[in-house]
Amino acid sequence: MIAKSIVKKFPRDRWRNGYIKGKIGTDPAYDAVYEQLRGRSGPLWDAGCGLGLMAFYLRERGWTGDVLGSDLSEEKIALGNEVARDHYAGVRLMVGSMTEPPEGFLGSVTLIDVLHYVDTPTQQRMLERVRTLVAPDGVAVIRFTARDRSWRYYATVLEELFVRGSGWISGGRICFPTCDEVVNGFEAAGWQTTIRPLWGRTPFNSYLLVATPPRA
Ligand SMILES: C[S@@+](CC[C@H](N)C(=O)[O-])C[C@H]1O[C@@H](n2cnc3c(N)ncnc32)[C@H](O)[C@@H]1O
Repeated sequence: MIAKSIVKKFPRDRWRNGYIKGKIGTDPAYDAVYEQLRGRSGPLWDAGCGLGLMAFYLRERGWTGDVLGSDLSEEKIALGNEVARDHYAGVRLMVGSMTEPPEGFLGSVTLIDVLHYVDTPTQQRMLERVRTLVAPDGVAVIRFTARDRSWRYYATVLEELFVRGSGWISGGRICFPTCDEVVNGFEAAGWQTTIRPLWGRTPFNSYLLVATPPRA
């Protein structure tokens, strides 16, 4: 079982490791990203990577492309790098904002549950930037909470306030975009897009955008 295999590589911590196991075991985002990267060579930039769980999951599934992850949390990056160094070759995590892509990067990009931490104009600049970072054979995979009038949206807002209160995620904004705000720029630029709900067994209003660049 992949979740168990990843957890075993982290230092002992009952609460954190329980969270990792539950997250990887139940969140459909990991498999959805793997399915998009399968057959692509990499590299991948995982912006807002947290502990690097996406990178570790991809390695466990056999995806061998280089992964660069960045996150604002020094603590998560230090711990994730410790695990990567010992167990997952070709995975490198850095402290940094999603608004600062790695120098000279060209490949595929994932943004999983992180876009809402910056305001709307910054989100738009970020999405525009993503379109310059994806290689012709790469893909952008973005999971976000859609701002709408559904009960799921309000449940996600409550959960976000709770994780802030718990200290697991600190700082930044809570600025959930609408589906149109995320998708329209890609479509206007001629990208091929698919968007679908991806909330799995959670009560959250999660959507997944998969976007590939226009063919030259
Ligand atoms: C909900 S977690 C998602 C983590 C990871 N993408 C995953 O799916 O496991 C959001 C992460 O975004 C990070 N974050 C918040 N604002 C950020 C920013 N401006 N740039 C990079 N990371 C950010 C937080 O530190 C946190 O680790």
